[in-house]
Amino acid sequence: RPGAGSGQLPFTPIAPVPNSVDAITVPAGYRWDTIIRWGDPIFDGAPVFDADNQSAVAQSQQFGYNCDYLDIIVTDRRGARALLVANHEYTNETIMFPPEMDAAERIRTAWAAHGMSVVELRRKSAGSTWTYVPNGHLNRRITATTPFTVDGPAAGSDLLRTAADPTGRRVLGTLNNCAGGTTPWGTVLSGEENFNQYFRAAGTSAREKRYGLAASGDSRNWRSQDSRFDAVANPNEPNRFGWIVEIDPEDPRSTPVKHTAMGRFKHEGAHVIVNGDGHVVAYMGDDERFDYVYRFVSRDTFRAGGKKKDREHNLTLLSSGDLSVARFAGDGSEDGVSDGSGEWIPLTVDGRSVVPGFSTEEVLVFTRLAADAVQPTKMDRPEDVEPNFVNGHVYVACTNNTDRGKVGKEGATEPNPRNANKNGHVVEMMPTGGDHTAATFAWNLILICGDAATAGTYFGGWTGPVSPISCPDNVAFDSVGNLWVSTDGQPGTIGLNDALFKVPVTGPERGRVQQFLAVPIDGETCGPVIHDRDGSVFVAVQHPGEDGSWEAQRSRFPDFVPSTRTARPGEFAGPRPSVVQVTRR
Ligand code: FEO
Ligand code: CA
Ligand code: CA
Ligand code: CA
Repeated sequence: RPGAGSGQLPFTPIAPVPNSVDAITVPAGYRWDTIIRWGDPIFDGAPVFDADNQSAVAQSQQFGYNCDYLDIIVTDRRGARALLVANHEYTNETIMFPPEMDAAERIRTAWAAHGMSVVELRRKSAGSTWTYVPNGHLNRRITATTPFTVDGPAAGSDLLRTAADPTGRRVLGTLNNCAGGTTPWGTVLSGEENFNQYFRAAGTSAREKRYGLAASGDSRNWRSQDSRFDAVANPNEPNRFGWIVEIDPEDPRSTPVKHTAMGRFKHEGAHVIVNGDGHVVAYMGDDERFDYVYRFVSRDTFRAGGKKKDREHNLTLLSSGDLSVARFAGDGSEDGVSDGSGEWIPLTVDGRSVVPGFSTEEVLVFTRLAADAVQPTKMDRPEDVEPNFVNGHVYVACTNNTDRGKVGKEGATEPNPRNANKNGHVVEMMPTGGDHTAATFAWNLILICGDAATAGTYFGGWTGPVSPISCPDNVAFDSVGNLWVSTDGQPGTIGLNDALFKVPVTGPERGRVQQFLAVPIDGETCGPVIHDRDGSVFVAVQHPGEDGSWEAQRSRFPDFVPSTRTARPGEFAGPRPSVVQVTRR
């Protein structure tokens, strides 16, 4: 693969875009098109989007809100068919729905706007733009009420049983699906992240506190429509969220799975690589200030055969294995760079707890507390953790941590070198011997983000001009191993719309940050998907115009672009989170 895509996406970096601009900005020679928007119908007979009369029934047949993880999985040799898979992390009710909307309908519509979507795409030929198939037979919505199977060592545990599900093996819905990853066997993993916000809880136990469950939770009042969201009455229900889920986009009738073997925390996402010995290794971040980076190693090995029985076997790989957590040691600042060595501290061995005082089920359901007991490194909000298939290194986006160094909090360390870290950094991990199951690794910070004029920034040794970058969140790689980084938070830290950047990781341009696009006002750049051999880049535009209200919308993305179009009569005046493709003209 190295070399195959070189030069397919040549571009001149765009100028940084101020945080008041309500438009997508792409480089000269490129165009952008919307593939699918919040509310677009994806089933036969599904109603067209009508913002004034949105309903739960309509939403359950339409693309969901706030798209985050994205993949575009090409499914035929000609490159004319694909599956779009997207997460729908959360809802912004105050800009989505008219204030007079019935309160119960509003909640049920929000349930249907959460979750994930699978949508078939078509195009004439490789290189042309994709359109979605409104009645594709693989199209699917997964929502806050879709049944999931729980598997792995904690399935059926007392900790997961509720009055409504005495088996502890069947959960309704997935929530706050943030980032994810596509597996070598064609399934999609999705991280359940800030699930605590949907529950009212007593919030008094150490376990509930460690997961942010509190009496002040549930600002959406979901418990008024389903008592399971009242965790005072149903204290185990929140234990059924915070997992990595796996869906099979090729089988719309399959039951999605929650994998307890991969631990429970505020999962940003998970990315799988097949190790040299066939074990599959998943890297995962727990996105909270001072939380940890985790690794899962499968018990069994990947079968590459491509036969039905091989795929059925591969579908079990994330059900059994071992979980460990990362400890980073710095080698001192005298060398002028943040770097050092590290180790994976086991939480389970041969599928069983090795943490004193924790049963195996407790390690998996209360992973944060088990990890606390073995002193991993407190990181600055680890978001995407993703292996680069070209060089075998693993990249960790630490988005920010403005609490570092505050009174009572840990101060700067070599792997997290700035107090009041508002701009974030990116860690590069090198598994010892290139073995992703090895107990140790080397590491360095390839990026310490910010405007280059800001003290303390570092760009992989590159000293020429760079695009300013803040709050790295999602990472991806092109076919030659360049790192692509998208951001969530630049508007508030460096006054610029969130963006997507290309960063070479080898050669003389290592660390040269080049801005490829910017998303509209208040938006977050998610995805991203880089099909450089095909001349295209895809991003999910999440929460455009988030800081507005129904009466005072701040964004009309994507259907109102002030420079070229005017709103049509009856057109929704607010924003619609959307998936966008960027192609060469
Ligand atoms: Fe949903 Fe960690 O971003
Ligand atoms: Ca050093
Ligand atoms: Ca994220
Ligand atoms: Ca984020």
